[in-house]
Amino acid sequence: MRGLTGKVAVVTGGARGLGEAIARRLSEEGCAVWIFDLNPDGAETAAHIHRATGHPVYYENVDISQETNIEEAFLRVAESSSIVDILVNNAARFIFKGVEATSQEWKSILDVNIIGTSLVTRNCVPLMKKAGKGAIVNLSSVSGFIGQPSFATYNATKFAIRGLTKCWAIDLGAFRIRVNSVCPGYIRTQAFDDSCIQLGIDPEAENARISLQHILGRQGTAEEVSGVVAFMVSEDASFMTGEDVMVDGGYLAK
Ligand SMILES: NC(=O)c1ccc[n+]([C@@H]2O[C@H](COP(=O)([O-])OP(=O)(O)OC[C@H]3O[C@@H](n4cnc5c(N)ncnc54)[C@H](O)[C@@H]3O)[C@@H](O)[C@H]2O)c1
Repeated sequence: MRGLTGKVAVVTGGARGLGEAIARRLSEEGCAVWIFDLNPDGAETAAHIHRATGHPVYYENVDISQETNIEEAFLRVAESSSIVDILVNNAARFIFKGVEATSQEWKSILDVNIIGTSLVTRNCVPLMKKAGKGAIVNLSSVSGFIGQPSFATYNATKFAIRGLTKCWAIDLGAFRIRVNSVCPGYIRTQAFDDSCIQLGIDPEAENARISLQHILGRQGTAEEVSGVVAFMVSEDASFMTGEDVMVDGGYLAK
């Protein structure tokens, strides 16, 4: 990938799963990476990636639903790195409810997936403007395109992420900040198994069922998404903005 060496990247939810793979890939490409996560394992994840790549990886204990947490973390980023080149809005909650969702359930998921993502971006953009350009990737999903049973709460947020992406691309284009969303199919992270348990489904049976819904006959890996994200924030994608990029093994093509 061109143009990633020496860049400063913030990855939310980088302690595990897709976020960890994205943080690792950006570090392998030579970025200094800041992981924002509320999972205390994030400190060990950051240390582990740093040992493997030799590039700086920092961990900030941030709950993105708490604006003061976000502001304080970006103050530390500004003190240490002074600018940000890349933001990957990956952190999300997985609450699967249909029409019966309560106001508390709606607030819990919107506070993280939409308001938290927006506040991270709000606090990051001034540091990108200082850099003179930037690239933002928001994690949407195949769930941002279709209806799925009992998924209304989650899918509403993944549709909204695509809306934010297009509006921010318009607002930030003049500052040479590109904004795109990546839309994975099913990726076998801990969140998949946790979600199955939340829905009362056996994870192995669900893996077998869902694999057949992808043209490639399997779930994807976190690394198959992180490589695409690295491309999207690199100079190789310098004319790409406001776009949804599918990484779904053909899930939506069927
Ligand atoms: N796994 C999939 O199949 C899949 C498919 C499509 C899209 N996605 C999207 O990819 C992203 C990552 O998914 P994943 O499967 O790796 O999930 P995951 O649950 O394995 O990891 C999510 C990370 O986000 C962190 N996080 C959650 N709430 C947070 C908060 N309030 N503040 C800071 N950090 C917080 C968690 O601690 C965790 O480390 C999500 O946006 C998800 O919607 C996942």
